[in-house]
Amino acid sequence: MKLFFNPASPYARKVMVVAHECGLAEQIERIAIGLTPVNPNDDLNTDNPLGKIPALVLDNGSSLYDSRVIAEYLDTRGEGGLYPQAGDSRWQALRRQACADGICDAAILARYEGLVRPEEKRWSGWTDAQKNKFRRALAALEAECPEFADTTDIGTLSVAIALDYIDFRYADEAWREACPSLAAWHSEFGNRDSLRNTMPADLKA
Ligand code: BEZ
Repeated sequence: MKLFFNPASPYARKVMVVAHECGLAEQIERIAIGLTPVNPNDDLNTDNPLGKIPALVLDNGSSLYDSRVIAEYLDTRGEGGLYPQAGDSRWQALRRQACADGICDAAILARYEGLVRPEEKRWSGWTDAQKNKFRRALAALEAECPEFADTTDIGTLSVAIALDYIDFRYADEAWREACPSLAAWHSEFGNRDSLRNTMPADLKA
């Protein structure tokens, strides 16, 4: 399998975390590409018309995107057991994944506003609204993280990845002071091999 990815992308990292959890990481050839919303890549566009990473090209030549689809495919193929099959725990895991992905969506949109958009067109109200989204989501996770207990599933893995992304791109964000329970959980959960082995290089201790 061939994965279009970028080492800084939390969505691409989620795919690799799941691949590690499922014992499939060695079967994935990673193709790193630099990408912004206005910097298309023709090879990627062939396999994902949306031009987004991650995209996974299977051995039969067909492709899968986005991270949620790829992660569930790998879990099924590798029997990872990261998706509770029924009941409340399934919807909780999927909702936590959505919350974590939403944190990354907002953090990336706020980042692109300052990095990619021409200076004269930047809108601080937009940036602030995106930051408020991820701050509200972090506060909600702080309230529910006592329920995480020892759960390792697509929800808790996605939350850990989102927190690492905030550390990576928003080093000044004092989320640990605002969310002490979440911080304590993150510091323990982050020791999993799948998370340590996929940490963006700039964040490694
Ligand atoms: C980043 O550099 O933060 C980034 C790169 C690719 C996708 C998402 C984020």
